[in-house]
Amino acid sequence: MAGMSNAARQQGVVILGSTGSVGGSALDVVAALPDRFRLVGLAAATNQRLLQQQIDTFQPSYAHLATGGTRLTGVEQIDNPEALTHLATLDDADIIVVATTGHTAIEPTIQALRAGKIVALANKETIVAAGEIVMREARTSTGILRTVDSEHSALWQCLGSDRFDPERVRRLIITASGGPFRGWTSEQLSTVRPADALKHPNWNMGDKITIDSATLMNKGLEIIEARWLFDCPLDAISVVVHPQSIVHSMVELHDGSLIAQIASHDMRVPIQYALTFPDRVLGPGKPINLVTIGELTFEEPNLEAFPLLTIARDAAAQGSTYPTVLSAADSVAVEAFLAGRLSFLGISRLVQESLDAHTPSSGPLTLAAVREADTWAEQYARQLVEERSSQWK
Ligand SMILES: NC(=O)c1ccc[n+]([C@@H]2O[C@H](COP(=O)([O-])OP(=O)(O)OC[C@H]3O[C@@H](n4cnc5c(N)ncnc54)[C@H](OP(=O)(O)O)[C@@H]3O)[C@@H](O)[C@H]2O)c1
Repeated sequence: MAGMSNAARQQGVVILGSTGSVGGSALDVVAALPDRFRLVGLAAATNQRLLQQQIDTFQPSYAHLATGGTRLTGVEQIDNPEALTHLATLDDADIIVVATTGHTAIEPTIQALRAGKIVALANKETIVAAGEIVMREARTSTGILRTVDSEHSALWQCLGSDRFDPERVRRLIITASGGPFRGWTSEQLSTVRPADALKHPNWNMGDKITIDSATLMNKGLEIIEARWLFDCPLDAISVVVHPQSIVHSMVELHDGSLIAQIASHDMRVPIQYALTFPDRVLGPGKPINLVTIGELTFEEPNLEAFPLLTIARDAAAQGSTYPTVLSAADSVAVEAFLAGRLSFLGISRLVQESLDAHTPSSGPLTLAAVREADTWAEQYARQLVEERSSQWK
């Protein structure tokens, strides 16, 4: 996650997932810093109306709508199965913001790194499923990987480096808001409905990550992300619940010092840092007033009521294709929960059963093995929803 000052010339930016929550925030950053950035390409899946509005406003050269069919106007439409990779490797693109959901961006991320691009990676599932492969590419290619996830951006800033140095650092401490059900018992959680789980106390995010925040799976995914991004042993990564979401993460040093990164809960701050690194410039993010906030509190997560945190950690320790299965099964479970086909507590049961049934790939992890495990887990989890969801109340 290294880099040099970008102030010298305008950089071309591509945003994969521009119609989403992170994508919209990335557009705000680009719009606020026109001397530094120009928009080259946009990609979305279904929201044709918003994508067209973005094209009309920002006038990129290229755009892609994954559902296809509709003609976009005022832009060269990229309409082939490799469209995301095509956009991620365009000659006039310097920075690729990867803000899609799920596993679709694994290949485009790898190809962008190989093509020497700066990848500003928000999509955590890419690192969870294929961290070993993506980080190998990031460390050996001319491309640069910069994390956008707020907790990992905080760790990157606190470490002052993209590596965990065991001589200096004792622990990475990832903060969690605790989601809307902080303090709830398993019994209370059995009554949760999708509308309750979609009400995040602090962040306004896409539906998938909002549900992952409510189950604490999001922190499980972030442990795996931190493990790969910073080359850090799993047992040196811990999670602490911090309901105010102002301290975005911390690094504990051997001498007893704790270094924290503090900012408002606004994704435009870590996105801008990934885009302008190492510069700190005036952008759309607002300063925070600690006196107004008044109180910053910290507590242990409840691992009994929120088992996905432990399930994710175990999957990470097992390695190989287990994290891919974890992530793929969770996507199916969240989709089924949002569709009213699976209970809130059923999400962790479905993920655990998918992991239990998985036979991992042998040997070093390959992209083919990740793809195969992804397909297997999705099918297996869908079958579980059909067969078992009524029992998991
Ligand atoms: N939201 C946050 O604050 C936050 C923070 C940290 C990390 N993240 C991570 O960032 C990623 C995005 O999160 P989000 O909350 O922004 O999600 P979101 O609001 O659901 O947006 C997802 C975006 O991806 C697009 N998309 C999905 N599949 C695609 C495909 N095959 N081709 C092209 N575009 C595709 C969607 O298009 P349509 O809208 O047109 O369907 C949408 O623009 C996730 O991995 C999440 O875990 C999010």
